[in-house]
Amino acid sequence: MREAPLRVGILISGSGSNLQSIIDACEQQKIPAQVVCVVSNVAGAFGLERARRAGIAAYALPHQDYATRREFENAILAVLRDHDVELVCLAGFMRLLTPHFLAAYLGRIMNIHPALLPSFPGTHGQRDAHRYGVRFSGCTVHFVDEGTDSGPVIIQAVVPVYDEDTPEELAARILAQEHRIYPRAIQLYAEGRLELRGRRVHVKAPRCDDLALHNPPLTD
Ligand code: GRF
Repeated sequence: MREAPLRVGILISGSGSNLQSIIDACEQQKIPAQVVCVVSNVAGAFGLERARRAGIAAYALPHQDYATRREFENAILAVLRDHDVELVCLAGFMRLLTPHFLAAYLGRIMNIHPALLPSFPGTHGQRDAHRYGVRFSGCTVHFVDEGTDSGPVIIQAVVPVYDEDTPEELAARILAQEHRIYPRAIQLYAEGRLELRGRRVHVKAPRCDDLALHNPPLTD
């Protein structure tokens, strides 16, 4: 077991509801971690307000203010280093990170995506799943690599898609599960229960045997 809580830095661009779920889990001591700083590339992002309310250092670093991607990333890295961040969590952060940034936190960056990867990567995961007509979708926490939503998968949650769902209803069902799996992924990391073997993540956690979901159900 670690002696001090894992120092987590969170990057956001918007509302920050995932950020809030992580802050809450840390405050309630459900996970051995502490959010030490929050950075947004959007100045008015509500997530910054959430951070300040929780007494967490919050930084607006609008990407337009930087001449190059490298300078933008260096500004973020400087904040993360100032706060001795050990794990970086992307939570609705809408900028792609370059290999320069990834190298600085190799294997120590997580992202949450609102679909069951590798299906429906990109910015509209919920809408794309809805349009395709899948009967299940969900969300994925994964380690970040150089591709878009392509890194090793840590944890996934599955939700049904119903015939009468609007894209918004599906997105809300998925978001509720995002709020459950992101803190869990951080907990597993903080407790040293994740091991990266090639592109597979081995997780030290109980197995769920005989688990299968059917939608529509197999019987009436
Ligand atoms: C979430 O759906 C997340 O999966 C996606 O962007 C959304 C961010 O929501 N990458 P919030 O800012 O955490 O409320």
